[in-house]
Parts: sequence; structure tokens; C-alpha cells
Amino acid sequence: MLDLVIRGAEVIDGSGSPGLITDVGIEGGQITVIGDAGPARQEIDGTGLVLTPGLIDTHAHDDGAFLRHPDMTFKLSQGVTTVVSGNCGFSAIPFDPESDPRKASGGILSGLKGGFTDLSGYFDAVLASAPAINNMMLVGHNTIRSMVMDDPKQAPSQQDLMAMGSHVERALEQGACGFSTGLIYHPGKYSQTEEIIALAQLAGSAGALYTTHMRNEGDHLLEAVDEALRIGRESDVHLHISHHKSAGKPNWGKVKASLARVDVALSQGQRVTLDVYPYTAGSGRMIEYFDLQRVNEDFASVIRIASCPAYREYEGQMLKDIARVQAVDITDLVRDILTAPRGADTICIQFIIDEQDVEHNLRWRDMMVGSDGIPNLRGKPHPRLYGTFAKILGHYVRERGLMSLTEAIRRMTSLPAATFGMNQRGMVRAGFQADLLLFDPATVQDTATYDEPQRLAAGIRTVMVNGKIAWQDGQHQMAGSGHMLKYRSGSYAG
Ligand code: ZN
Ligand code: CU
Repeated sequence: MLDLVIRGAEVIDGSGSPGLITDVGIEGGQITVIGDAGPARQEIDGTGLVLTPGLIDTHAHDDGAFLRHPDMTFKLSQGVTTVVSGNCGFSAIPFDPESDPRKASGGILSGLKGGFTDLSGYFDAVLASAPAINNMMLVGHNTIRSMVMDDPKQAPSQQDLMAMGSHVERALEQGACGFSTGLIYHPGKYSQTEEIIALAQLAGSAGALYTTHMRNEGDHLLEAVDEALRIGRESDVHLHISHHKSAGKPNWGKVKASLARVDVALSQGQRVTLDVYPYTAGSGRMIEYFDLQRVNEDFASVIRIASCPAYREYEGQMLKDIARVQAVDITDLVRDILTAPRGADTICIQFIIDEQDVEHNLRWRDMMVGSDGIPNLRGKPHPRLYGTFAKILGHYVRERGLMSLTEAIRRMTSLPAATFGMNQRGMVRAGFQADLLLFDPATVQDTATYDEPQRLAAGIRTVMVNGKIAWQDGQHQMAGSGHMLKYRSGSYAG
């Protein structure tokens, strides 16, 4: 007898094919029947609802959250069943228990606390906390560069390069899906292109990915795209460009030229993919964006404080408003925040993107979706953490009609599963893992805002992870059924 059957939902299978009203039966954590299903121990009525594969977040910073918040409510509640972590050059692994975890993780991977040194050890630690959703990992350049080099502002010696390379290789052997960079961040920004090529080659020869937060997303976006494409070519590696955007008003519109370059590369046979987050603001560690000697006033004026251990009262406020009320110069305010005790841990939100560019990105035929959410739940985090996927389904699909529902589901399920090497996931198909989402297409909507960023998505009925009901009608079921995924080889088994 089947463990569970969902009857009468419109099944959108993730392949891009149109939906079909039918039953889906589950047994032993897998989808076993699509079509007329016999009796089951548990039945769910899907009438009037849509059943899809669980959604995949291609750009997450959840490495530490899996240990600190294994319920992963911010992702699960919007229908996400799998994330790719270790992005922007920051990863939980390799980990040196002797060193300050904030240093290597760039301060955005909350919750890192020893007990492991490599990817297998990290997977064991996460599984011990019974995570709600699945996780695939990248190994991050900034993390290994901070760990290996005494002075990360220098060029690496041959020995440093070898040491970095062996960390990359070890992570790939243990199941990482690729190597990530964050070339605007410390210490990745000190690296030359040749260093990245040497390391990305290791991912290339393993058949894995090179993902990048490019060196520039504003004034020099196009040069940065050229650099990324060159790295992809010369390393013979699949290039994935993270959170594609043009930042800063003078650069708005440049995403068109940037995507045109990608189109040319694709037409020449290069493997390139991209993702985007559906918001006009970015978010990150504030100290990374400022030179304290020459604080950029224009940039400061579009910043809002998300989380600030030194001044909790600033959370949720624009810097320009704080400066006005206190009658201080905004550049002095920036210096004061960043030099205060734990000032370096301040997370900010910067309004730097044009909505037209967001839509242009989403219209591009194979654009995937990554939340880039920073799971620091203190203060007022960027609403993308809780809202990204419901916003795609509610706002961009239903209200704006940028793409059909079947197409949006394909881009958030089978396409990322194939790209990031998630075996037997991303489609409603017999033999696939039962990661499933049942929702109401007429009411699905993000409700998280900049003021109320932790509000849960509306319209999500049931989320299943590896065959277990993980989320039901706004209630976490504490199934703890998430798996740790190894690139192109299924789940990590310990
Ligand atoms: Zn990034
Ligand atoms: Cu990121």
C-alpha cells in the first residue's frame, strides 16, 4: 500500500509541459505512481490546487543556518525543499576549529560552530540536527584564501595555490557541486584572474561548476562579465553567474548588454547559466561596501540597516533618516556604525537596482531564481529570505504575467536540479525523490516586506521533503527529513 497519495491536483511536473489533473502516490520517500493510485495510508485532497516539485533556491547562504535554524522555516514556508549553499566565495567548509569562524565566513554564515573540518564532517553535523530541507554545497574561494594565506592582500605563492587547490579538490571529492567566488569581497578582491582560472579548472575537470559573484556589478559590470566568461572558457568549466544585476542608477539597463554577451558565449558553445533575486535591493555585510577613508555619500543614502549589534535601534531605518534626526553627517554615521564594537557584523540593505532590470532578467529564457537571503534573523533582514519564491509565483507570474506558471516552475525545479547535479530531483516523475509543493495559484503571494520581513508566504498548502510532510497549512511539521546532496550522486549516506 502507498504511504501517501495526493488526489486530483493539477500536476505541473517541472519539465515545462502543461499541467495535468491526476493522482500522485508516494512510497518509501519516492514518487511511485502518477495516474490512478490505489489506497494509501494517508490521503491529501488536491482539488483546485497545483502540485509541483519542491522549489530549488540556487543561491543560498544557509551553511550556518542548517546548524542554527535546522527548521529552515524561511525557506520551507515558501515551498523550497532544496538550497545551494556556499555562495559568493563563503562556505562553511573547509573549517578550522582553531580560527574565528566569522573571519573565514565573511560574517554572513550565522551559526558556524566547529565539530567538523571538511564537507563530510559538515554533512554529519547538519544531519545530526535533522534539517527540514535538502542542501547542496559549493566550496568558497574567500574562505579557503583566508584560511591558507597569512596576508590575503598579497598574491598567493605557488605553495598557497597548491594548498587552496587541495581544499577545492577535497570538497569536490566529498560531493560539493562546485567552486564559488565573491570577487568584490575580502580577500577574493585581491586575486588576479589567473588565480581563479587555476582553481576553477579543478571544478572543470571534475565536471562541476564555477559560480561567481562577479568582481563588479555596477560601473564595470561588462568587464566583469567578460572576466567571468574568460574564466569559464580557460578553465573549461560550467560558469554560473550569481544574482545578475546592474547596480547603481547610472548603470541601470546594462543587464541587457550583459545578457547579450552571455547569449554570444552560449551560441559559441560555452556553458553559462545565471540566477536573479526578484527585488530592487541587495543586502550584505556593510563593512564590505565602504572605504572608511572615503565614504561614498550617494551610496550611503540608499542604505537601510538590517541588523546592527552595536545600535539595535537603527534596525529597519534608512541611514539618511538616522542622520537627519541626529543632525549628523551621513558619512560620519557610517564610520561610527562600522567602527563600533561588533560594527563589522552590521548587515545592510542597499536600494541599488531598477525594477525594469529585474523584469528583464526574469524574461530571459533560462533565468533561474536564487534568494541570496542572509539568514541572520535578528533585526529586519531583507524580505527576500522569506519571500523570494512566493513573489515569483504571485507577483511576477500571476500579476505581471512575465512567464507562464509551467515555465516558472521549470526554472525553479528541473532546470536548477539539472544544472547543480541533483539526482532524481526537480520533477514529478516515478522514481524521483518525493520533494513536492502543493499550493493555490490564485492566492500564492509573498507577504514579507522590508518592515515586516519575517511574514510567511500565503497560499502554500503542503510541502513534502523526501516523502514526509514537512509543512502543512502554515504549520511546521518538524519532519526533519532533509538530505545532504552530493553532486550528481544522490544523497550523502554518512
Ligand atoms: Zn553575492
Ligand atoms: Cu550571495
